[in-house]
Amino acid sequence: MKLVSVNNLIPGMVVSENIYTLDDRLVLPKDTVLDEKDIERIKSHSLYNIFVEDEMKAVAPKKEGAKASGGADISYAEKIRNTEEFIRFKQDIEENAEKLEEYFRMLANESVPLDVDKLTEPVYHLFVEAGGTAGIFDMLHNLRDNSDAVYMHSLNVSLISNTLATWMRLPQEKIQVATAAGLLHDIGKMLVPSELLKKTDPLTEYEQKVMDQHVVKGYELVKDKDIDTHIKNAILMHHELCDGTGFPFHIKGDKIDEIASIVTVANVYDNLTTKKTYRAPICPFEVIAQFEDEGLQKYEPNAIMTFLTNIVNTFIANRVMLNSGQTGEIVFINPDHLSRPMVKCGEQFVDLAKDRGLSIVAVI
Ligand SMILES: [Fe+2]
Repeated sequence: MKLVSVNNLIPGMVVSENIYTLDDRLVLPKDTVLDEKDIERIKSHSLYNIFVEDEMKAVAPKKEGAKASGGADISYAEKIRNTEEFIRFKQDIEENAEKLEEYFRMLANESVPLDVDKLTEPVYHLFVEAGGTAGIFDMLHNLRDNSDAVYMHSLNVSLISNTLATWMRLPQEKIQVATAAGLLHDIGKMLVPSELLKKTDPLTEYEQKVMDQHVVKGYELVKDKDIDTHIKNAILMHHELCDGTGFPFHIKGDKIDEIASIVTVANVYDNLTTKKTYRAPICPFEVIAQFEDEGLQKYEPNAIMTFLTNIVNTFIANRVMLNSGQTGEIVFINPDHLSRPMVKCGEQFVDLAKDRGLSIVAVI
């Protein structure tokens, strides 16, 4: 192991220890084989020296096009992950999450004005890269291993809220408000102790109570700002549920702001389908089944029904694994059983709506 100046780093060097920023954020994990982009990333964080191994390794080649990983037999998800669009999207969303983190910190200590148009600009750029609303879930469903940091989650929720508002055919102004509300919904997390945000184990009951205060703290931060009232309400109400079991005020049904209801659905879906430090991502079909079960009591009916009927369609042609271990492609969505589509396994058509012993356990 040796200490090397950041200016002397070259591709192929292997990082000996996790690299952190001065305020303790992970830049790159131990054992990363540096490529040009990693080196740029390290330099952008104003670090001076890092420890690297004595031996160098070959830099993993960048994936280019579907052929790179095995001809015609690769899955739909794998094809997506190999497209230039996905590689660019992943890079952009990660970079934007870093910028958002800085901006959120400045907003939390009131050192910058809250400019909603400027803040949401990168979200619209990500839509263009993903090929519009139709392509956004292809991108997001393949980013499920990403960290569950507040900033990445905020971008995801913004993209999903925009898409859901579009599916609900809301007027353009409301779609924009939903986009901004999704981005800012967890701004109050900047005002809860950072140890809680960084904690890798599940929170204790007391810690959860402190964490839950983010909705009120976020609202306090923005309540006097010159932004749309729906955005303020979404920050305050995105954990309220229609049956009164949410928080902070346990308000019910149509007392919950309509844009907050959209952000709630986007927030829950993104949380459950994202990997957490203490659990793997939950399969979207399990989440859809859960929504089908209890969704109409907990969420605003139009928002949840529009979300479910549209989200399942984004999985057509995806390869999935069943609890029997069989794999196959989704060929038909059953409108009466959204979480139980028809799956073609080899030459056999498996109708999950009829075969109740079988279910989808992973999208692969
Ligand atoms: Fe939240």
